[in-house]
Parts: sequence; structure tokens; C-alpha cells
Amino acid sequence: MCGIIGYVGSKNCTELILEGLQRLEYRGYDSAGIAVIADDDLHIRRSAGKLVNLANNLRTDPLTGTTGVGHTRWATHGAPTEENAHPHRAGDVVVVHNGIIENHKELKDELKTDALPFTSETDTEIIAHLIHRERAKGLDLPEAVRSALSEVRGAYAIAVLDRTEPDRIIAAKNASPLVVGIGDGENYLASDIPAILPHTREMIFLGEGEMAILTQDDVSIVSIEDGEPIASEPQTITWSPAMAEKGGYKHFMLKEIHEQPRAMVDTLRGRVRIEHDAVDLPGITLDDAALKAIDRVVIVACGTSWHAALIGETLIEQFVRIPTEVELASEFRYRKPVVNDKTLVIAISQSGETADTLAAIAEAKKSNTPLVGVCNVIGSTLTRQCESMVMTHAGPEVGVASTKAFATQIGALYMLALRIAQARRTMTSAEIGEHLQDLIEIPSRMEEIIQGPTDVYKALARKLHHTSSMLYLGRGLSYPVALEGALKLKELSYIHAEGYAAGEMKHGPIALIDEDIYSVVVCPEGPHFEKTLSNVAEINTRGGSVIAVTTEGAAAERVSDEVDTVITVPAVREHLQPLLTMLPMQLLAYYVADFKGTDVDQPRNLAKSVTVE
Ligand code: AGP
Repeated sequence: MCGIIGYVGSKNCTELILEGLQRLEYRGYDSAGIAVIADDDLHIRRSAGKLVNLANNLRTDPLTGTTGVGHTRWATHGAPTEENAHPHRAGDVVVVHNGIIENHKELKDELKTDALPFTSETDTEIIAHLIHRERAKGLDLPEAVRSALSEVRGAYAIAVLDRTEPDRIIAAKNASPLVVGIGDGENYLASDIPAILPHTREMIFLGEGEMAILTQDDVSIVSIEDGEPIASEPQTITWSPAMAEKGGYKHFMLKEIHEQPRAMVDTLRGRVRIEHDAVDLPGITLDDAALKAIDRVVIVACGTSWHAALIGETLIEQFVRIPTEVELASEFRYRKPVVNDKTLVIAISQSGETADTLAAIAEAKKSNTPLVGVCNVIGSTLTRQCESMVMTHAGPEVGVASTKAFATQIGALYMLALRIAQARRTMTSAEIGEHLQDLIEIPSRMEEIIQGPTDVYKALARKLHHTSSMLYLGRGLSYPVALEGALKLKELSYIHAEGYAAGEMKHGPIALIDEDIYSVVVCPEGPHFEKTLSNVAEINTRGGSVIAVTTEGAAAERVSDEVDTVITVPAVREHLQPLLTMLPMQLLAYYVADFKGTDVDQPRNLAKSVTVE
């Protein structure tokens, strides 16, 4: 998730573009760049690291121009370096891009025969080369962009400048956000409203497959596919700039809860090869022989990532039939663990900077274990410690309480488990194909829940906000979901909550049950449903109250008479159910915390990345 901005008008656009990038920095902040056209030439400045580096660069080497584009990056392909920063140039064309080009490898091989060398590791540079090639065939700029995009597969929002056409910008969109801002004698474009809101409230939201041609006095929208004009009415935005950065949501956490379907789509994109019933994880450097040679898996992580690891444990054991253990990184690092070169160690971290997880990796390396990292931040320390990586594409997670990163970690582990099963032939390609078909349907099921009514959560928040302790219970894959629910409530609302394997309740925690305590029980239909219902009965007989998270249909009917509140999610295959049952966990914790008025995005005593022991 990167940030794009563009301007064409009569003002010097450098300052304006830089300010716009500052308002987009929540979208990505590992490198940045700007390009302006002035004196019939293209001027590009790029810097690795935070945006302030680009600002300093421009202070020492200023740029002026009245047509320009800017970009702040969240790396997906290629480390966050100056070379990989946008804009990318090919001849007279420069491109800034947000999204993922799935067929970038094939296109790059094809373009390599052209004279123009590639200067970066990015998928984006391919677009610049494609447009340059179409221009060389004599196509005008809009036609060249359309023709180039007809070869591209994947998600993109792009803005294009051409040195020989200084008075216009071409922008195009497919499965990545792009908005055009209408000014008076000037026009703007951006990935998101905050970047241009100080300049105009009149915005046109580009639709899928649409292209905008911006000049100082005009904006025209056409179809990328056939070039036909598309009528579009500007909308007036009433948000404050602060609200805009949160996309109109009250908190970044709520925004990130709503971003989970998109984050899942981006994480699965280009890796789920449904046409081949196969998973393709280019970041895994371990070949099939290496994956066949392992005889044990150990997953190390902390906090929410550790809960994802517990789900990964079941997926790997059930798909690959290999012993799998989950370790708290802070314990693993000191326990002189028995691992060797046949033990695959998987390290999971959203930030890639968690000290305990990095130390656990170092500990594993002492025994030459094959290593796979699952991480959300390219260029982070973890990505440099692990040769094999499965990057999650959740985009920057601003809220301290992890939500979309957790969802994409489960998606990444699902693909990794299927990839190992594929190599070891513990599943047929038909079985893998069925799993993948269900996996790619999950984002829309998540959307159904997230877009659903929130009254139940607000009502529960009024009921629960003064409680001092809650219990979260689940069996099988619902146990890690219960643990995650308890952690979310603790870290957001400061209410003590304990996640417990439901089968363990009678061995102690049942002593906590009385008429004052609420228990959240995760009980979707499936192999553990009946047993979990008996735990609900145990709570009821001791006067406790139950909030059940279950699946629509028969399960919900069975449960509804037994419990205080029922929250339902669509029923999906057992292994994918946690991706749906975890959403009510996040929403309940969010609405209780919001009701209590705690600092939802920056809870007390917590840090987004725990870089100390
Ligand atoms: C989760 O909401 C917390 N922010 C915390 O438990 C977090 O999951 C943990 O610190 C691990 O962080 P990481 O994934 O960046 O390594």
C-alpha cells in the first residue's frame, strides 16, 4: 500500500506534492520520490527511508515545475532503496504505482530484449518500459498507457508523466484506490483523499478499469479497455483532514479491521494459482527436495503473531502430517531448544523488528535450521535474517492492536502449509485446488461480517464496559481465536480477560464462573461443536453468561436458547473458519474500548513494535 499524488496547474507543485505525501505517509514510509517536468525536461528526486529524507534532498537541490507526481512507498517487490523508490523512468516516461503486478516476471523477460536496461528490482518499472515501447511505436500518451496496461495482470493505481507532453498527467486504476481532485485552473490526483483535501473538496473516485487524463483546465475519464469516454460527477467531501487520514473511520484500528478483505486479496494475489491447483511462493528459496528433507516444524513468534502460529500448527500438521510445535520466542531463545538442519523454523512477525523473535531466529541459526520468515514489513531486520520469506501484504498497520496483519498471517501460513504439502505430496492437487477455491472466497465472506450491523457489539459494550474480568473459550482452531479475542480486549479496554482451551475449563478456570462473569465462547459448527456446547452448559449451570460466536444456520439455532448473546458468521471449511470467527473478537474489543474511551490506536503501556527484551 503506497501513496501517490499528482498535480497539473500553474503553481510550483513541489511543495504541494511533498505536503501531500506527508498526509499519505500512513500508507507507506520506507522510501519516496517526486518527478516534475520543467524546461522541457524531467527532473526526478528519490530517497530511501522516511519522507524527511526526500524533503532534505529537495531543500539542498530544489525543484520547480507546474506538472508533477509524487510517491511514498510500502515495498512489496524490491528492498526499500533509492533505486527501487518511485518514480521509475524509461526514456521520456515516468511512472508512480501502487499495487502488485502479478505477471511482472514474464513481462520483464519479454522487455529484456529491448535496448533500455532495467535499473530496479520493482514490478513497477515494467510499466514504464511498456509505455515507452508503445510510445516508440508512435502511439499518443493515453493510447500508449492503455496499450501497455492491456498486457499487465494485477492491481495498480498509476500516474504517468511524459517529458514530451508537459501539460498533462495520465492516471489509471485497477483494484487500487485513486481519486481525482477538481480545482480551478489546476487539477490533482491521489491515492486517498487526505493528500489533496486542503486544496479541493470536489473529488472524482476512479472506478475499476478507468483512466483519467488531467490537464490544467480539464479532466476526462475513459475506459482503459476500449478508450470510450465515461461520464463522472465529482463528489463533495465533508471530512476534516484528520478524519480523512483514517478514511472517515473514528480510529485507525476500525479502518484496519475494514481493510482486512483487501489485505487478504493482496496477500493471496499472484500466489494462488487456481488454474494449476497450486500455490506459488516465489519468496521461498527452499526447493521441493529441501521441503521433503525436513522432519519437524517449529514456529516462533510473540503476541498476536503467536496466535497465528497456533493456527499454522494445526494447518501444517493436518495438511503435511509432520510434527509441528509453536514456541513463544521469548522462551525459545533461552531454552537451548533441540533443533537441527531437518527442523524447519518459521518466524512470524508483523513488524519484523520484535527483539524476542529476532533472538529466537538467531538461536535457531546456531543449529543450521532451514528458516522461513512471515512478515509485513519489507526491509525489516527479520527479512534480512531469513532467506525464505512469505511477505504478508496488509500494508502499514498503524493501530497498535494487530488486526489485518493477523488475518494475512493466517492466509500466509495457509498457503505455506499447502506449499509444503504440495512438495511432499501429502495432498493431491485436487485437494489443494479445493482448499484454494475456498481460500479465495474468504475475503468476500469477511466483507459480509465487517459490513454487517454493529448494534450487537454496541449493546455488549454497554453491558460489559464495567466488568473486571472475562473468559474466552474455544476448542481446536477456535482456541487460538479465543486467545486472540482475550488479548484484544485486554490491550484495548484494559479489562482482564483470559483465553482458555474450552476443554481445560473444568481443570481450574471454571472456579471463576459466577453471575458476574461473561464468557465469550467460539463454537462454530464442526468437529468441536458438540463438546463446546457442553462447556456452555457447564457455565450456565454455575450462573455465568455466555456470548457465543458461532456459524449461521443450525449451529446458531442450537446455541441461541443456551446463551445470553449469539454472534454469527458464515460457515466455511473448518480450517478457514478462524478467519471469520476472529472478526467478532476484534469488533467486540473495539466497541468496548471505544465505549470506555480508552486510546484505541495507542493503548497505554504498549508499542507497535517491541524492539527491546
Ligand atoms: C498485538 O495486537 C500486539 N500489538 C502485540 O502482541 C504484537 O502482536 C507482538 O508484539 C508481536 O509483534 P510482531 O508481530 O510485530 O512481532
